Amino acid sequence: MTSQTWNASLYDDKHGFVSALGAGVIDLLDARPGERVLDVGCGTGDHVASLRAAGVEVTGVDASADMISRAREKFPDLPVRVADVRDLPFDAEFDAVLSNATLHWVREAPAAASSIARALAPGGRFVAEFGGAGNIATIADGAQTLRKDLGLAPAQSPWFFPTIGVYAAMLEAVGLEVSGAWLFDRPTQLVGEDGLANWLTMFCAHLLVGVPDVDGFLAELATRLRPVLYRDGSWWADYRRIRVTAVKPALRGAAASPA
Ligand code: BEZ
Repeated sequence: MTSQTWNASLYDDKHGFVSALGAGVIDLLDARPGERVLDVGCGTGDHVASLRAAGVEVTGVDASADMISRAREKFPDLPVRVADVRDLPFDAEFDAVLSNATLHWVREAPAAASSIARALAPGGRFVAEFGGAGNIATIADGAQTLRKDLGLAPAQSPWFFPTIGVYAAMLEAVGLEVSGAWLFDRPTQLVGEDGLANWLTMFCAHLLVGVPDVDGFLAELATRLRPVLYRDGSWWADYRRIRVTAVKPALRGAAASPA
């Protein structure tokens, strides 16, 4: 899926904002007690745990074994397991599929969309938020330019940051009806003087491939990006989010009375 590997403890310690910023998508999901919900890309389990505490029958999956074992450490007995979103082992089992800050890591997006659609029961809904077109363009472009200036080959992006049009068409192609889509800027604070360097180290392994002096690279990139991304004493990553809601049509003929 991606060459990115995850250090789950570092993720929780320094990047816990990922779950916190997902509050909006949880509100949009509006899950009711007893509903069967699948959290795709559950990470270290924060949303699974909070939804479960609210009485939702939620299951979490993540492609990273490290994330799943950290989720189990934090929340023993949480129903979470390792699974690849491109090939989920579920067939019409969920009233809703939720995903926060995950799907931009899946370049094979049509396979993910198809697998999510299969996991939904007829009438079930899909609610997701992830990086949209233009996401972190300032950081990624700055790093690629610096690589070029150092004589390094362009880094292969592991990300998929679609427009609303591209993503909605992809969901329609797998039989979902798109009921809402938004693309919006969400500048995201990276805490501390080393916030940008820590974020790059955690999430952007591909941009550092082949770099002989990683600390020097990060320092030079910070110098170049400071005039645009550092303000009021903090680094701000230029996140752009796509939020989407879609429904798997109920089976025809399931309604009580014919038209
Ligand atoms: C994001 O959440 O948009 C994101 C995080 C890390 C790397 C790339 C994108």
